[in-house]
Amino acid sequence: MKLVSKSDLIKIFDREIDLLIDGVTNISNPYHFFSLATLNKKKVTSRTVVLRRVDRNPLSIYFNADYRSPKIKQLLDKKYCSILFYDNKRKMQLRANCDASVNYKNHLTKEIWDNTPLQSRKCYMGKHKPSQQLEQWHPNVPLKYLKRDPEKSDSESGYNNFTVVHLFINQLDILELHHDGHIRFTLDSDKKLCFLAP
Ligand SMILES: Cc1cc2nc3c(=O)[nH]c(=O)nc-3n(C[C@H](O)[C@H](O)[C@H](O)COP(=O)(O)O)c2cc1C
Repeated sequence: MKLVSKSDLIKIFDREIDLLIDGVTNISNPYHFFSLATLNKKKVTSRTVVLRRVDRNPLSIYFNADYRSPKIKQLLDKKYCSILFYDNKRKMQLRANCDASVNYKNHLTKEIWDNTPLQSRKCYMGKHKPSQQLEQWHPNVPLKYLKRDPEKSDSESGYNNFTVVHLFINQLDILELHHDGHIRFTLDSDKKLCFLAP
């Protein structure tokens, strides 16, 4: 039986970070999406978001959101959150505890907004707050832009609702499933490795 060493764990970690980075632009990589769980007072809420950027040092990831959405209110109230990625083909799970930093109308949001295609900008032009109850169906994008991109000048109004959330990873839990012995370990923010029982 082949034993797993700490140097194997470093290789797994490096490979997974490379795949996370690939997931930013590669929509067929399952890491393009992840689950984000936040605290709403004493209740936990989770939802799917899109991975937009990965930094290696410190290890951190980013997603975009509507500033008016409940998740942002929750993260501003309590910065602690948990993220979850799963690649079903490779049987890899990544779970992490994070601290969130919400960027709104600053250099970072401006730079990212300037590079956001018109097609995506309309998601931030809805007249309703995300998750708000509605009397009747509404897609929450201006109806005139349902089938086309907004004019650039008009799209700028979406910037008022645009936010970029930076998630600093405090502890990463990596699980690789194998029929002949799962591999599981954690890495803390000092990159200290520790085997965990799968
Ligand atoms: C595939 C997929 C990708 C999504 N990506 C995002 C995203 O990047 N940012 C976001 O705010 N919401 C995204 N959503 C919508 C959220 O899952 C959620 O429904 C919405 O943001 C409201 O969340 P909240 O009420 O918890 O704030 C996505 C949903 C799906 C199904």
